[in-house]
Amino acid sequence: MKILILNGPNLNLLGTREPEQYGHASLADVEALCAQTAAALGHEVTCFQSNHEGELIDKIHEFGQMQSTGQVLGAVFNPGAFTHTSVALHDAIKGTGLSVVEVHISNVHAREAFRHHSYVSPVAVGTVVGLGIQGYALAIQGLVHKLTP
Ligand code: DQA
Repeated sequence: MKILILNGPNLNLLGTREPEQYGHASLADVEALCAQTAAALGHEVTCFQSNHEGELIDKIHEFGQMQSTGQVLGAVFNPGAFTHTSVALHDAIKGTGLSVVEVHISNVHAREAFRHHSYVSPVAVGTVVGLGIQGYALAIQGLVHKLTP
């Protein structure tokens, strides 16, 4: 089945953006890791990154619909800064029923107070925080283990 790997704003800058916080791997490296992890579990990934909230919402709608017809297992989602601001992403996940594991590369709880609240966590199946890009692989494994009967 398909797993959506969804990345929000500024994650296209991975590798060059604040490497002390996010490491040296690029978004392409992250997506390759996800493809490899999913393939080892018998699944495939579709990867999408956007800096625009509406595009992320549209993707959640598209894949929520596909999940309801059995073509999609769920999504691994790093919403970037929209994590801390977006009621619309919360509503999109809730409204479509898309199964989402939320990922953050950095430990947001050990950072500024404005990063401590997530609008996505209450509608996520689970969260992986602070484990670097390996968190994406763990999120895929968690999604598969949780949702495979
Ligand atoms: C992030 C954490 C967010 O607070 C930040 O705005 C990001 C990246 C992470 O992966 O650690 O863009 O989601």
